[in-house]
Amino acid sequence: MATADSRVTIHMVASLDGFIARKDGGVDWLETSDEFLDGATLEPGFVDAFLKAIDCYVMGSRTYEIALRSEAQGFGWSYGDKPTFVLTTRKLQRTRDTVEFYSGDLAQFVNGRLRPTFRTIWFVGGGVVSGECLRLGLADEVVYSILPILIGDGIPFFEKLDGDIALHLAGIKAYKSGMVELRYEVRRHEAK
Ligand SMILES: NC(=O)c1ccc[n+]([C@@H]2O[C@H](COP(=O)([O-])OP(=O)(O)OC[C@H]3O[C@@H](n4cnc5c(N)ncnc54)[C@H](OP(=O)(O)O)[C@@H]3O)[C@@H](O)[C@H]2O)c1
Repeated sequence: MATADSRVTIHMVASLDGFIARKDGGVDWLETSDEFLDGATLEPGFVDAFLKAIDCYVMGSRTYEIALRSEAQGFGWSYGDKPTFVLTTRKLQRTRDTVEFYSGDLAQFVNGRLRPTFRTIWFVGGGVVSGECLRLGLADEVVYSILPILIGDGIPFFEKLDGDIALHLAGIKAYKSGMVELRYEVRRHEAK
């Protein structure tokens, strides 16, 4: 697999007020019922091709635990057969060979282990890991999918950023479901 042009993307779905889950981790609000007539439709062929292009996933332990719970409830495993790296200091249940646990220096892991092996690296949450990834300057791109709902309180998209991070708006797409996808490139070495 080529590696010189590896790319780290953070992607999550959030409410308009910037939350990725309720305080108790609930994501019931992800099922919205809006309709935006001029929006695009997510065709299965497009989704398949899009998912195929992702080489590996990275997530925090709390997101992993939610993924395991949702699989146990019959909703399936969202990450296919792609290598999935779970950040944790704990000993967690491992239900498939594609899952690997890591604990420690995230910059060393991304730059020393993931970038030399994978081209398209997707961070899929949650807020703690996204914040860490941005704080350490590891992300190339942020894809922020906003749903047409406000939930008032919850777990924020990014936890504990300690400074400004300048972005470049690289793409906008609105969907029939009322979801708007914003794609930003992270501008390096620029505070504002
Ligand atoms: N809306 C969406 O698109 C979306 C996407 C993803 C998640 N979510 C929601 O977000 C919530 C979880 O987000 P969260 O911010 O609470 O947690 P999170 O980011 O999923 O996980 C944080 C945990 O990851 C581990 N960790 C982070 N960095 C580490 C490192 N360098 N080394 C070792 N372990 C490390 C630590 O766990 P240990 O205690 O195990 O060490 C830490 O407490 C869930 O409710 C989930 O449903 C929503």
